[in-house]
Amino acid sequence: MLNFLAMSIVLGIETTCDETAASVVVDGKKILSNVVYSQIETHREYGGVFPELACRKHADELIPIIDEAIRLAGVEKSDIELISVAARPGLMGALLIGLSTAKALSYSWKIPYVGVNHIEAHLYAAMMSVDNPPLPAIGLIVSGGHTSLLKIKALGEYEWLGNTLDDAVGEAFDKTARLLGLPYPGGPEIEKLARLGDPKAVPFKPGRMKEKPLHFSFSGLKTQVLYAMAKNPKNEDVAASFQETALNDLVNKALLALKTYSLNAIYIGGGVSNNRRLRELFEEKKPPGVQVFWPANGLSLDNAAMIAGLGYHVYQSKGCGDPYDLTPMPTNKLLF
Ligand code: KG4
Ligand code: ZN
Repeated sequence: MLNFLAMSIVLGIETTCDETAASVVVDGKKILSNVVYSQIETHREYGGVFPELACRKHADELIPIIDEAIRLAGVEKSDIELISVAARPGLMGALLIGLSTAKALSYSWKIPYVGVNHIEAHLYAAMMSVDNPPLPAIGLIVSGGHTSLLKIKALGEYEWLGNTLDDAVGEAFDKTARLLGLPYPGGPEIEKLARLGDPKAVPFKPGRMKEKPLHFSFSGLKTQVLYAMAKNPKNEDVAASFQETALNDLVNKALLALKTYSLNAIYIGGGVSNNRRLRELFEEKKPPGVQVFWPANGLSLDNAAMIAGLGYHVYQSKGCGDPYDLTPMPTNKLLF
């Protein structure tokens, strides 16, 4: 048995969408295990996440995955001191499975649990391996369900600066991939195909609103792809041009936010942060002195290590666990 003197061993649980995940993390930082069961194969034939199937898979897989995470961490169940579960936002049924399991384990193991925000955890993933992460800073969330810019004043204290007014950027990648006949999830497929194409071949325009310079809009870009396809361009050129337009839009608005708020650090989280071209563009365009932080390997896509890590801090700041009548929240309206 490991002996972590004065350390907090947290079990994280993630079931917001189509990944069933569990992880054991010490002190909000040190990842002992990070087990992710991706349901991609289950949903692929539907071209997106089929909510009822996601729930059934979570119900089947969650307990074995929690057992696996504890086994791989090399700890005993009795070593776990806190459970952290993603309680918002996400698919209602999927959230309920994670939250009910966390409550049941908390009750039977006689340890506290906290319900945390999945989007906040995506940002925390970029801070997790940084000693004394510089703050205040800008946060950029680029996932399948969200695209947002915010000011991170401190962990747990955020100010929203911009959001997508329609599709999220990951969703735009997924929908464009479908137009190109590529499988779900489309982000990695577009990235692969884009390497073979000319990013200047099709002149796409990003969604811009003069009076809301830090907001995003991706549905127009998807429509432009649809019209461009009528002219029979090469698929790789469409992929490269779409990707370049969407990613440049993210980078330009993130850099504008840094300048507007006179900040010089940015944390990026969510599935699209896996994209190598996005990382290159930030490197190419960032002014000297600006620090860009990315999630470590395995922490960009949905995972439970970021949930466990964030839960450690949420518990420290609350000083207690959540009550058993906490309900899951499918939308992100009441943020954090
Ligand atoms: O954060 P995430 O795992 O789930 C949500 O919370 O939404 O993000 C999934 C999204 C999908 O839309 C997927 O297509 C996109 O992230 N994605 C990518 C890449 N890898 C995943 N988009 C662009 N390039 C990638 N390499
Ligand atoms: Zn996510």
